[in-house]
Amino acid sequence: MPITEALTESLQTHPLYTWTVFGIVVLGIVSFVLLLFISAPYGRHLRPGWGPTINATTLWVIMEAPSPIAFAVVYFMSDNAFETVPLILFSMFMLHYVYRSFIYPFRMRGGHKRKPILTGALAFGFNTANGWTNAFAITELAPHLLSTAWLVDPRFIIGIIVFFTGYAINQHSDAILRNLRKPGESGYKIPYGGFYRWLSSPNYFGEIVEWIGFAFAAWTVPAWVFAWFTAMNLVPRAFSNHRWYLEHFSDYPKSRRRIIPFLL
Ligand SMILES: NC(=O)c1ccc[n+]([C@@H]2O[C@H](COP(=O)([O-])OP(=O)(O)OC[C@H]3O[C@@H](n4cnc5c(N)ncnc54)[C@H](OP(=O)(O)O)[C@@H]3O)[C@@H](O)[C@H]2O)c1
Repeated sequence: MPITEALTESLQTHPLYTWTVFGIVVLGIVSFVLLLFISAPYGRHLRPGWGPTINATTLWVIMEAPSPIAFAVVYFMSDNAFETVPLILFSMFMLHYVYRSFIYPFRMRGGHKRKPILTGALAFGFNTANGWTNAFAITELAPHLLSTAWLVDPRFIIGIIVFFTGYAINQHSDAILRNLRKPGESGYKIPYGGFYRWLSSPNYFGEIVEWIGFAFAAWTVPAWVFAWFTAMNLVPRAFSNHRWYLEHFSDYPKSRRRIIPFLL
C-alpha cells in the first residue's frame, strides 16, 4: 500500500495513535536542531536559567516511569497480550525500562544533584506517548507478530541480536561511568575501557543500537519512530559531551569519536 494511502487509513481508523506517532517524529527533528545549539541542561551541562529544579533521582523516576506503565497498561488491555512474540517484545521493553525507571536512578553516584523540572516534563510527555503507541502497535496493528512464524524471520532474529548487543554496551558503559566515582564523590574523570576506547558517549551509542534492534524485531512504525527519536535526541547530546570533555581535560584522548566508532 502506498505510504499516503496507509497514512490516510491510519488517520481515519486510529487518529489519536497516528497523530501521537507523527508528533514523536516532529519532536525528534525539533530536539535534534535545538540540542545541536543548546546542551541539555542537566548533569555536567546543568546551569541556571532553566526554571525550578528538583532532586535528580526523584525526577528520573517520575519522568521514566510513564514508559513502562503506559506500555503495560495498553499492552494488557489487548486480547493479544499473551501471544508469544508480543510477550517477547513486552519483556525486552520492560527489561530496559523497569531498570531505567526504578533501579538506575538509585545507582547513580554524584551526591544530591538537581535537574530542571522542564527537562523531566518533556521526558514525561515523550515516555507516555512512546510507551502506549508502541504497545498498541505491537498488540493491535501488527498481524505478523501474532504468528510464531515471525520467530524465525531474519528481521526478528537480527533485531534480537542487535537489541541485546546494544543493551550490553549501554549497561557496560553506564557501569564504567558509575565506577568513576566513589560513594559521595561528585566530580568528573576521564572514563576508560569498554567502548570508551573509541567513543565519548558509548552509553548513548548502545541505547541507539538497542532500539534499532527493537525496531527490527517488532517491525512496527512506532518502534522505528522510537529508534529515530533516540538517535535525534542522543547524537547532539554526544556532540555536547565530547566538546565538554575536550574543554575540561587537556589529556583527553584525541582519537575518540563522539558516538559512532571510527566515524562520528
Ligand atoms: N532514550 C533516550 O532518548 C535517552 C535520553 C537520555 C538518557 N538516556 C539513557 O540514560 C542513561 C543516562 O543518560 P545521561 O544523559 O544521564 O548520561 P551521562 O550524562 O553519561 O551520565 C550518566 C551518569 O554518569 C555520571 N557521569 C557522566 N560522565 C561522568 C564522568 N566523566 N565522570 C564521572 N561521572 C560521570 C553522571 O553524573 P552527573 O549526573 O553528575 O553528570 C550520571 O550519574 C544512558 O544510558 C542514556 O543512554 C536515554
